Amino acid sequence: MKILGISPGHDTAACLLVDGRLIADAAEERFSRVKHDSHFPVGAIAYCLQAGGLASTDLDFIAIGGRFLPVGLERFFGITPEQAATLAAMRPLEVKARNLLMKAGPNLLPLDTPRFPLRPDCRFVGVDHHRGHAAAAYFSQASRDPWLVLTLDGIGDDVAASVWRAIDDDLEPITQWGREASLGWFYGNVTEALGWQHGDGEGTTMGLAPYGDATLVGDRLDRFAPVFSAGTLTQPHEYGHASFFNDHGNYHWHFPEAAAIRGVVNDCGAANVAARAQQIVEEQVLGLVRHFCQQLGLQRLACGGGLFLNVKLNQRLREEAGLDQLWVFPNPGDAGLAVGAALAAWHDQARPGGHLQLEHLSFGPAFSAETIRQLLDERGLAYCEAADPAEAAAEHLAANRIVGWFQGRMEAGPRALGNRCILMSANRAENKDLLNARVKFRQPFRPFCPALLAERKDDYLVDAGDEPFMITAFAATPEARQRVPAVVHADGTLRPQTVRQESQPLFHALISAFAERTGEALVLSTSFNVRGEPIVCTPRDALRCFFDTGLDVLVIGPFVLKKPVPPSRPKAD
Ligand SMILES: [Fe+2]
Repeated sequence: MKILGISPGHDTAACLLVDGRLIADAAEERFSRVKHDSHFPVGAIAYCLQAGGLASTDLDFIAIGGRFLPVGLERFFGITPEQAATLAAMRPLEVKARNLLMKAGPNLLPLDTPRFPLRPDCRFVGVDHHRGHAAAAYFSQASRDPWLVLTLDGIGDDVAASVWRAIDDDLEPITQWGREASLGWFYGNVTEALGWQHGDGEGTTMGLAPYGDATLVGDRLDRFAPVFSAGTLTQPHEYGHASFFNDHGNYHWHFPEAAAIRGVVNDCGAANVAARAQQIVEEQVLGLVRHFCQQLGLQRLACGGGLFLNVKLNQRLREEAGLDQLWVFPNPGDAGLAVGAALAAWHDQARPGGHLQLEHLSFGPAFSAETIRQLLDERGLAYCEAADPAEAAAEHLAANRIVGWFQGRMEAGPRALGNRCILMSANRAENKDLLNARVKFRQPFRPFCPALLAERKDDYLVDAGDEPFMITAFAATPEARQRVPAVVHADGTLRPQTVRQESQPLFHALISAFAERTGEALVLSTSFNVRGEPIVCTPRDALRCFFDTGLDVLVIGPFVLKKPVPPSRPKAD
């Protein structure tokens, strides 16, 4: 059974699921180079089919995560009247009305002939937005036991929060709430008030929060957030008119309340407001989890939806919710809805009785050494070929150089996990500022994350299991605070990727080679991009980032490119 999964809203994406195996998964932003791209994922669909060696006529199902289907979808796929009727039934009235208004507008798919023709028996399956988040969360981990599933985001198909009881192939809805319950919008409004974009800068708010004191804000933020009590929305919040503007294909939400929250920021201080917003979200979600775990008699929790990109929230749930197991789908935002829709369709249609066990997110494009060599030669670039790229990269890292690391398949999801990374030694505290000044251009208070050998995790993390996805935070050990200060945040936590030899042999070899040279089985690892751009996808993207920033070295496939390094740069240790 060949299922194409599509996420059609913002952060559009596509995936290919064949007999329950995830073959390919990528967000459109990686191909279009527009961060959070909201266009229909034409490039991602083309990539998924190519990665699977399939034509569109091989597909059995098109699973779409959400009801906001764009104008022209029928022509894009080239479908029969029966298939068109299925699509029409999936669109709610307001989407039909909006599409009618946009018929002559800029959001038409620019196609009069089908780009991807389908077989007449290929079926469209609509998966409601939060059911897609829930399916991604539950069906991507191995256990078929009963779990509580919680989804939280800004809004999707008019729902902001939903609760499910999941078992085997089934998701049983327990309850859900609409926009008046949106914790995602609350956090987004605070983010906008702090000066960053709603739907993009929430991680910056989270990074600022540990520098503040929530008590200095008192209750002044409370009136901007919904309140849950004992599993009930006791104080729904009226958010007013939601507007958004199209910034080069990236939709930014905007709410008038951001201006009012700005007044609280002016009075109480930005860091204190960030701290209080973080505290409100953590406490509301903790309350929901505790209530529904108790009501349903469940101790395992799976989470999906963009709010769970918040690693501090996830840490709090892990430490304080009394759970036996916590699984946060590692691509919990809307780009992960392609996988969610495909998994929902797979379990509904095939009843396979077994789950996908997601162990990595390396589902994007890869490029052969010959392709990369040709690209370098065509540009007349000087490079050498390393006998062992992991050793070569480790040597440069030990010399305290900033290394671009481009290997294998691009990662799905918001974080670089060993394939499209910028790496640096974490052994010197000033490396964080150096990296910001030369390459990443981020706010100085934001933390960088580490990648570390799984077998050495106890050297750095308190009470940590495997965490291959950088989706939760852990307390740093006292030794880690001393030894790898560039990745320890102000609150004494690390947001790590633990790297296993079996699943990522080359990245594991790199960190091992660095450990042989410096004693530290940990490197600073951040996404291979500059601020405001998506993670690099192709070798060409990597070259542009390399030459447009202060990266010292690029290790791309087996090839090593170097820039002159200032002679004054100190060694890693
Ligand atoms: Fe969502």
